[in-house]
Amino acid sequence: MEVSLVGIGTRFRSQLTPAAVKAMRDSARIFTTISEPPTLWVPHDLDSGIITALQPLYRPDRPRQDNYHEAAAMVLAAARLSPVAYVTYGHPLVFDRVSQLLMDQSTAAGMTCRVYAAPSSVDEVMAVVGQDYAPGLQIYEAYWLVRCRVAPDTKVSTILMQPQAFGTDRVPDRGTLSTAALEPLARYLGGFYPSHHPAIFVRAGIRDDDGGYVGPRTVDTLASGPLTDLLGTSLFIPPVGNPENRTRKWARLYDPELPSRSTGTAEQ
Ligand SMILES: C[S@@+](CC[C@H](N)C(=O)[O-])C[C@H]1O[C@@H](n2cnc3c(N)ncnc32)[C@H](O)[C@@H]1O
Repeated sequence: MEVSLVGIGTRFRSQLTPAAVKAMRDSARIFTTISEPPTLWVPHDLDSGIITALQPLYRPDRPRQDNYHEAAAMVLAAARLSPVAYVTYGHPLVFDRVSQLLMDQSTAAGMTCRVYAAPSSVDEVMAVVGQDYAPGLQIYEAYWLVRCRVAPDTKVSTILMQPQAFGTDRVPDRGTLSTAALEPLARYLGGFYPSHHPAIFVRAGIRDDDGGYVGPRTVDTLASGPLTDLLGTSLFIPPVGNPENRTRKWARLYDPELPSRSTGTAEQ
């Protein structure tokens, strides 16, 4: 039997490759974490009756890992009967635990598992900050970096994923979210970076009418910005020391007049 791991990319429908569309068409069932209605993202001629949302499994009263394991188990049980696709945001193997579980468990069970790559939010963040991957890029989950005491290499760019979930192993509760929860992250990063080093919250726009969001902070002011710093963002930290005078480049991101992109200031 076959499991297809399909990324829809960062836009709805327009980034689905023909191979990904075929994989979805060839599947008897489609499981998804995408919360937007299927009418927005499935190929037009695909019967949405074969789609099962995994969101109901993402319970707030237990560790997120339990949710992911239960979701993978549900997909794998269906894959024992007929070909299935797991469809998710961005690239299916960029910070997606369910994809990784499915890859490991389906292959261990002798199934075929194929990955249908698509642009990731990481690509979009690099586009927003105007930075090539070439000088080096390190990507960590923000809370994991601190819990595992990973020493970031300050000579290369850094992206910290899901700052929204910092400090919790549960699904973040939007009602109690606060940037103050990032205080331990600010303190930890302060052990490596100069205190006034830029740290920029970026939410890349994913629709044509959404320019996204840029929240320019510094390492020592990470935990004092507006709530919007946390909503669907990643944290980009440029390298320390900069042969190409990047200071000017990052300074662009501080410009509140940037066209069609909202910027959050700490005063908001
Ligand atoms: C569970 S990961 C899934 C990433 C997804 N597989 C991908 O390739 O983009 C979710 C995290 O991706 C990042 N992310 C998703 N959409 C984003 C966007 N539009 N702009 C910036 N970061 C985003 C955030 O760090 C968010 O917490």
